Amino acid sequence: MKFENLDIQTQDRIAILTITRPSKLNALNKETIKELHKAFEMLDSDKDVRVIILTGSGEKAFVAGADIAEFAKFSMKKGARLAEKGQEILFDFVENLSTPVIAAINGFALGGGLELAMACHFRISSDNAKMGLPEVSLGVIPGYGGTQRLPQLVGKGRAMEMILSASMIDAKKALEYGLVNEVVTQEQLMEVCKKMAAKISNNSPVAMRYAIKSVNAGFKYNINGYKTEMEAFGICFGTADFKEGTTAFLEKRKADFPGK
Ligand code: COA
Repeated sequence: MKFENLDIQTQDRIAILTITRPSKLNALNKETIKELHKAFEMLDSDKDVRVIILTGSGEKAFVAGADIAEFAKFSMKKGARLAEKGQEILFDFVENLSTPVIAAINGFALGGGLELAMACHFRISSDNAKMGLPEVSLGVIPGYGGTQRLPQLVGKGRAMEMILSASMIDAKKALEYGLVNEVVTQEQLMEVCKKMAAKISNNSPVAMRYAIKSVNAGFKYNINGYKTEMEAFGICFGTADFKEGTTAFLEKRKADFPGK
C-alpha cells in the first residue's frame, strides 16, 4: 500500500512506522490520521509483524500536534466530530491494538503528538525532545484523550500543571514523571527502540494481546480490570502459544510462537 504521509519499513518482525510531513513538523492532518489508521490496521493483521515502532521524520519533531491550519475554522459540531472520529480511528485504536506499539519520541511531541505518543503502549525519548499539551493557549482543550491519558501516566497534579500552563517539559522531566520510560541520544534512539522491540518480538503475540487488553481494562471506568484479567488468563490456557511456551520451557529450548 502506498502512503502519502507515512513510511513503513519492516525487518525481523519489527515494523518502523514513520510520519513523513517534516515541513509541518509531522502535524496530524486528516489525511495523515486516516493513513495511520490504515497502516496500524494493516500491520496489526500481519502475522509476521510482532512489534511496531512509531516515530516522526526529521530531527526536530515526533509530531507537533493536530494540524492547526486545518481545524482553525471548524464549528462546534465539526470540532466535536474531529475529536470523536480521531479517538475512534487512531488514538483509542492504537491504545487497544493487539500488537505492541512503542513511541520513539525524536523531538517535539505536542498536543495531538503527545496524545498519540500516550496512546502507544510505552514511550522512549531522545534527549532533545520536548513534550506538552499547549491546547489551552489556542483556546481549546486536548481532544484526543490527553485530559485522560496524561493524568493516568503522570498523576493528576502534574497533568493539571502541564495542561493549564500549556508549557513544555523536557525529556529529563518526562522521565522523572514516568511519561517516558527511557531517554537516550537522538543517534541512539532507533537502535534502543529496536533492541527493546526485538526482545518483545520473541514473546507470545496472543499472550501480549491479552496483556494489553487486561492492562487497558483497569483504566476504563465501566470495566472490571480484575475480571478481564481472570478471563483472559483462562483463555490463554487454550491457545497454541501457551502450549508452545510451556512445552519449550520444559524441553529447555527457546519458544517459537505460532503467531497472532
Ligand atoms: N499544525 C500545523 N502546522 C504546524 C504545526 C501544527 N500543529 N506545528 C508546526 N507547524 C508548521 C508551521 O506552521 C510551519 O509551517 P510553515 O513553514 O509552512 O510556516 C512549520 O510547521 C515549522 O514550524 P515552525 O513554527 O516554523 O517551527 P519552530 O521551530 O519555529 O517552532 C514549535 C516549533 C513546535 C514550537 C511550533 O511549530 C509550534 O508551537 N507548533 C504548534 C504546537 C501546538 O500548539 N500543537 C498543538 C496543536 S493542538
